[in-house]
Parts: sequence; C-alpha cells; structure tokens
Amino acid sequence: MTRLYALPLLALASMGLASQDAFESKCTSFAEKINIPNVKVNLAEVVKGGTNVSLADNPSSCAQTQGSTQRVSVDVCRIAMAVSTSDSSNITLEAWFPREYKGRFLSTGNGGLSGCIQYYDLAYTAQLGFATVGANNGHNGTSGKPFYHHPEVLKDFAYRSLHTGVVVGKQLTKKFYDEGFNKSYYLGCSTGGRQGWKSVQKYPNDFDGVVVGAPAINFINLLSWSAHFYPITGPPSSKTFLSTADWKVVHEEILRQCDSLDGAKDGIIEDPDLCRPILETLICASHASNTTNCLSSAQVQTAQQVFSPLYGINGTLLYPRMQPGSELLAAPIMYSGKPFEYSDDWYKYVVYNDPSWTGTHWTVKDAAVSLAQNPYNIQTWDSDLSQFQKTGGKVLHYHGLQDQLISSEDSKLYYSRVSDTMKLPPSKLDEFYRFFPISGMGHCGDGDGANGIGQGLKTYGGKDAQDNVLMAMVKWVEEGVAPETVRGAKFANGAGSKVEYHRKHCRYPRRNVFKGPGKSTDENAWHCV
Ligand SMILES: *[C@@H]1O[C@H](CO)[C@@H](O)[C@H](O)[C@H]1NC(C)=O
Ligand SMILES: *[C@@H]1O[C@H](CO)[C@@H](O)[C@H](O)[C@H]1NC(C)=O
Ligand SMILES: *[C@@H]1O[C@H](CO)[C@@H](O)[C@H](O)[C@H]1NC(C)=O
Ligand SMILES: *[C@@H]1O[C@H](CO)[C@@H](O)[C@H](O)[C@H]1NC(C)=O
Ligand SMILES: *[C@@H]1O[C@H](CO)[C@@H](O)[C@H](O)[C@H]1NC(C)=O
Ligand SMILES: *[C@@H]1O[C@H](CO)[C@@H](O)[C@H](O)[C@H]1NC(C)=O
Repeated sequence: MTRLYALPLLALASMGLASQDAFESKCTSFAEKINIPNVKVNLAEVVKGGTNVSLADNPSSCAQTQGSTQRVSVDVCRIAMAVSTSDSSNITLEAWFPREYKGRFLSTGNGGLSGCIQYYDLAYTAQLGFATVGANNGHNGTSGKPFYHHPEVLKDFAYRSLHTGVVVGKQLTKKFYDEGFNKSYYLGCSTGGRQGWKSVQKYPNDFDGVVVGAPAINFINLLSWSAHFYPITGPPSSKTFLSTADWKVVHEEILRQCDSLDGAKDGIIEDPDLCRPILETLICASHASNTTNCLSSAQVQTAQQVFSPLYGINGTLLYPRMQPGSELLAAPIMYSGKPFEYSDDWYKYVVYNDPSWTGTHWTVKDAAVSLAQNPYNIQTWDSDLSQFQKTGGKVLHYHGLQDQLISSEDSKLYYSRVSDTMKLPPSKLDEFYRFFPISGMGHCGDGDGANGIGQGLKTYGGKDAQDNVLMAMVKWVEEGVAPETVRGAKFANGAGSKVEYHRKHCRYPRRNVFKGPGKSTDENAWHCV
C-alpha cells in the first residue's frame, strides 16, 4: 500500500510541492483515507484539464476501440481501484472527481460483452461536474471468453459490477467532498442501457435519475436474434446473400415507400411503425438485361425475413423485427455473411461451454436452450417497476430508429410490457418513465439525422437541458420539470462541428409529423401527434 501512494508523492515533490493546491493535495493523499472492505487502491492522481490521460492498463481490445489515451477537459482527481466481488472475481473501478463539482454522483456503464471502462464517458460526465465512476464489468477486454466456466464473472457482468461500483463510488464521493452529494444518476447505452434497466428493476434505490439508450434488454433473445441473421443470409457466395450494394437498393426502395409517410421527404423515417415495405417491387423482371437496381426472389426473401420478427419453437415472439431504415448501417455487421461475434461468444462460453461451437447452424432450438438458462436473470425484462416508481426515481429511455445492432422495436415492446404489467397508460407512465425514439440515430449515435442529444462526448451539442438528455434528467429530478421532447442536433461533421439543423424528437407513443410551412430542417414545422 505505502509504495503505491509514495510514488506519486515523490514525483510531485520533485516538481515542487508548493505548486500543489488544496484540491491536488487532497487527491494525492486520498488513497490513505480509503478504508473500504474489498477495495484496493492502485492509483490516485491529479489529471489537469486539457491533457490526455494515458490508459496504460487498458486491455488491448478495449484500446482498439477507444484509443490508448483519453482527452480530459477539466481538472479531475482520478482514482483507480480493484474491488473483489467474490472469491474468484473482481472488478477494476475508476472514480473521477472533478474540481468543479456540482454535487451529483453518476455511474457510467459498458458496451457489448465488455470488459472495458468507458473512459470517454468518465471524461464527459466529469466535464459536466458529476463525481463519476466506471468499472470494467468484471473482466478485461471485449470477448465473452472470460465467462467460460466462470459463473462469478458472468454474475458481475449481469448486474454485480455496476451495483458494486455504485456502492463503493458513493462512499468515496462522500469521503472526497465534504458536502457529499444530493442526487445520483446513471448514463449508459447498449449494454449500458441494459445495466441501467437492471438497476431500475433490481436496485431501485441506486439512482434518482437513469438515462438509458438502446438497451440490450430481452438480452438472451437479443443474442439469438443477432445469431439468426447468418442462417437467413448465408455466406457471401450464397444465392440468399445481399451485398452492400444490394442493401443500398433495398434502402432506397424502403425510403421510396416510407420516407414521405411523416410528411417530409428528407431521407429520415420518423416512425418505422408505419413502414411495412413491400419488397417484391425489387424482383428483377425475367430476362432483365440490367440487374443493378433489382434483386433475385431469393434475395428479396432474405430481406423480408430480416424485417420479420423472430419466433421461438412454440411460436412465441422472441424478438421483434429489425426496423426498416437501418439497413446500410446493419449490412456490414449483421448481414455480413459471417455469424455475429457476440452471439457466438455467448453460445460458446455460456450456453454450451464449448469453444468449438459456431453459429453457422444456429436454429430456434438453440434459442430455446439459451432462454431456459437465463443466468442471473440477465434477460433484464422484468416489467414491474413499482419499487423504483415509489422511490421517486425517473427514467429517460431513448433508442435510435436507425439502430443497426439492437432493434428499436424491442424498446417499444418493453414499454408496452411495462404499461400492461403496471396497468398504467402512457399519460401515467410519463410521471416517471419517458421513452423517446430518436429518428436518424444509429446504435447509440451516428445515423442520418438529428442524433446529437448529448448522450456522450461524440454527440455533445451543449449542456442546455433541451439539447442534452443527461441535463434534461437533472432538471427533471431536481426541478420536477420533465422533458416533453428531446432536441437533437444534426452535425455536419461530428460533435462540435456546424449544426445543420435541429429536430425535436417526440415522446412515445406520439410521433413526429411534418406540417410545414417551410423546410423539413425547420424544427418548428414538426409536430408531435
Ligand atoms: C490529445 O489527444 C488528441 C487525440 O485524441 C490529440 O489531438 C491532442 O493533440 C492530444 N493533446 C495533448 C495535449 O497531447
Ligand atoms: C481478478 O480476477 C482475475 C481473474 O479471476 C485474476 O486473474 C486477477 O488476479 C484478480 N485481480 C485481483 C486484483 O484480485
Ligand atoms: C444539497 O442540497 C441542499 C439543499 O438544496 C444544498 O444546500 C446543498 O448545497 C446541496 N449539496 C450539494 C453537495 O450540492
Ligand atoms: C484487468 O486488468 C487490470 C490491469 O491490468 C488487472 O489489474 C486486473 O486484475 C484485470 N482483471 C481481471 C478480472 O483479469
Ligand atoms: C445499369 O443500370 C445502372 C443504374 O441505372 C447504371 O448505372 C448502369 O450503367 C447500367 N449498366 C448497364 C450495363 O447498362
Ligand atoms: C414457449 O417457450 C417459451 C420459452 O422458449 C416458454 O417460456 C413458454 O412458456 C412456452 N409457451 C408455451 C405455451 O409452451
């Protein structure tokens, strides 16, 4: 222990201790004050605003997706820890305490099957003044292999890592800031969205405000759904396969049939529920001399199956259809002619404990085996939220309508399950649970439309509550003012670049209709109906 914090102190001494202010000395001496069971501090260092943190310990597969450094815009005290969660498992946890603290605690989440601390979310939320934590979800790296014969690691992934990070993080926040914190928040997307819902369902007291995007809920069936595309498309050599160029043909036909249903022909489908494309229009006429813009009937059947729900062995709905509009983003990943990697990992290392298993012969019988297991209730599909409602908690749920990895229709299914289970119509759910489908947004970001809603650094368009889902949640929790719409920015070229237009996204089940006058880029020409 001693050696661990003596090193930074020595380093600072050589720079001249006199230059350390109260915040900095509190940070560098903080490790000594931490005496929490199962927690071992590895590092406590001051990170100056405007510098890049070197992530030397970041597993290489995590660094591949997020780089080996993280730019930090404000002064923070960074604390890195190991926290044991059982005799055979532990999490790596980071707490970032900003100098400009606003009295709020927050936890970030994870993505995919990882295994990666989301440093960009720590940097983002610290920049907004939150005392923030992020964990590695119980294992290192993006693969599902650490689950193999390791139930405790799986348990961390299912729910324990996040909850442990919250319990430890709240204690540290109270120790670090004399004033403690008043409200606690969550921000996560994808697997992070599932973790947020798991917390609402299982630990209703952990957060006052939960912002969840594109949640990987109905998790087991999601992985079966992702596995079911390969048997539909086959490999690239197969007659049933569509190339990226073919999917472009499908996309253009879908836009031709569905783009104007919302009143504006702008390349963005506001409500895919209204879009039931008839794809036989794409079948090449026999003896057609030019087949660039048409498909074989086998290919059309593939597309039709992609846009159909997945049913189980006894005919029950396992997972809704892929929403139309996402096909250009989805083609290189979901319809690539290879089994989907995360699904393969799940079946190999969890369902069958057989590393040689592959998804090439996947059938719905496999889906039934997988669903019957549901380890640690990782399904995250419980729909009675009354405990959370009673504590006064609030949830803001969003989902991109061009999501290429997790169909937004699964979020709609969950919303209606909650409504049915709790016997609450949308007007009553609105009191604590609001759902915003976001047109023109892919998986947690990207996409063709106004997807900058402040869910992360890459989609940051300002900290005004109307432009920022996290700050909208703060306003809801602390001022009782709930968001009516979520305003998105369409960036010309990524976050911080010129905003081409804004669009206000409606709260489900209302949908956006263009009424004019003016152009579709005029946000006031749209109305929620
Ligand atoms: C930090 O990293 C970014 C790239 O992520 C780079 O553009 C910038 O120059 C770096 N800044 C410093 C101070 O090293
Ligand atoms: C955490 O768990 C992993 C895998 O079980 C193990 O290899 C590692 O040594 C553990 N680390 C700590 C700090 O306990
Ligand atoms: C908590 O709220 C009280 C009452 O509004 C306020 O006086 C106090 O400063 C807040 N504490 C923090 C840490 O923001
Ligand atoms: C993850 O990596 C960190 C840093 O190398 C290490 O301390 C920790 O034990 C690893 N965790 C597991 C579960 O292997
Ligand atoms: C086939 O049609 C496409 C699109 O209309 C066109 O670009 C292409 O030149 C045509 N190819 C031939 C061989 O005529
Ligand atoms: C259908 O199968 C699912 C699991 O695959 C099971 O939960 C459900 O009870 C079954 N329904 C009937 C009617 O057998």
